[in-house]
Amino acid sequence: MPRAIVIDGEFGFDNLRLIERPRPRPGPGQVLLRMRAASLNYRDLLVARGQYDPRQPLPLVPLSDGVGEVEECGPGVTRVRQGDRVCPIFAQKWLAGTPTRAELRSTLGAPLDGALADYMLVSEEGVVVPPAHLTDPEAAALPCAALTAWSALVTLGALRAGQTVLVQGSGGVAIFALQFAKLGGARVIATSSAAAKRERLLELGADAVIDYRADERWGKTARKLSGEGVDLVVELGGAGTLAQSLAAVKPGGTVALIGVLAGHRAPVDILPLVMQGVRVQGIFVGHRESFEAMNTAIAEHELRPVIDRVFPFEEAREAFEYMADGAHLGKVCLTLRH
Ligand SMILES: NC(=O)c1ccc[n+]([C@@H]2O[C@H](COP(=O)([O-])OP(=O)(O)OC[C@H]3O[C@@H](n4cnc5c(N)ncnc54)[C@H](OP(=O)(O)O)[C@@H]3O)[C@@H](O)[C@H]2O)c1
Repeated sequence: MPRAIVIDGEFGFDNLRLIERPRPRPGPGQVLLRMRAASLNYRDLLVARGQYDPRQPLPLVPLSDGVGEVEECGPGVTRVRQGDRVCPIFAQKWLAGTPTRAELRSTLGAPLDGALADYMLVSEEGVVVPPAHLTDPEAAALPCAALTAWSALVTLGALRAGQTVLVQGSGGVAIFALQFAKLGGARVIATSSAAAKRERLLELGADAVIDYRADERWGKTARKLSGEGVDLVVELGGAGTLAQSLAAVKPGGTVALIGVLAGHRAPVDILPLVMQGVRVQGIFVGHRESFEAMNTAIAEHELRPVIDRVFPFEEAREAFEYMADGAHLGKVCLTLRH
């Protein structure tokens, strides 16, 4: 019997349960995916703890990100064929352009059932083919973290070679942002609280690293390292880091607001934004068209996502706890064996 892991009854990692359920049948325009791998994002921790949307109905299959093989196509499907390896897209209905509210609500792993299951049933419109050179865990790392970094730097950031990018921490989004920035010929200043991770960030191509715990005014340090200031900040801390990001960014530069690792509510001094014409750009993952463009770049450069650790499907709870501990660098993934 096919398996799924669900958050059941109440929120909390203790309530992740393995269940069995019948194999779904694809309807018109749908594809049935036999899942091979999945990956965790910080959002999945918030979802499982009930902090993302406390009103989310349960049970819920968590995780937005995965990769699977098309096992069966419903009537009328033309975009993919049986046997294709595909990733479901984060916002199932957001295909291109500016999203509608309904498109923004069509996200996997909350409110829609996600990737932590033997089978996923999705619309043929809601999948993309990942680069062929990637392993399954590497492909499963792309839909949220990689696309978010791509949207911030390329789709909405219009990054140019020679510019300077500041990335915060060494998690999934940060490492993809570092990789894409280097791919585009930018300089990268990275921050991390751990010495071993700072070493690794340098190996991955960072031009300078800062310990954001030891250096409370790391924003000013980043500005000094970059002359006038950085062109683009990949803002992942949120409320707790925004003031330093504003100290780091150059006049006319961009702060791409993405994360809430250090909270989402804080007073903001808008003077530096106004007086220096800083652009604040909210980022919500991205659309299918961007995902496909990103895949082309990843394939062309044979870029490999940085995978910290791969857990078996059966150890999903351990994977959640490992990710929550924050010792990882890059992505935490899961594999499914059938
Ligand atoms: N808006 C969107 O569309 C979108 C999409 C994806 C993710 N996000 C958000 O982006 C953030 C990162 O997600 P993720 O999945 O990449 O998380 P992750 O892999 O769990 O990242 C964890 C890392 O972030 C760093 N970190 C923690 N607190 C920090 C702080 N105060 N300042 C700087 N770095 C800090 C730590 O790095 P060190 O150990 O090196 O210090 C930590 O290891 C989350 O808030 C997530 O919700 C938003």
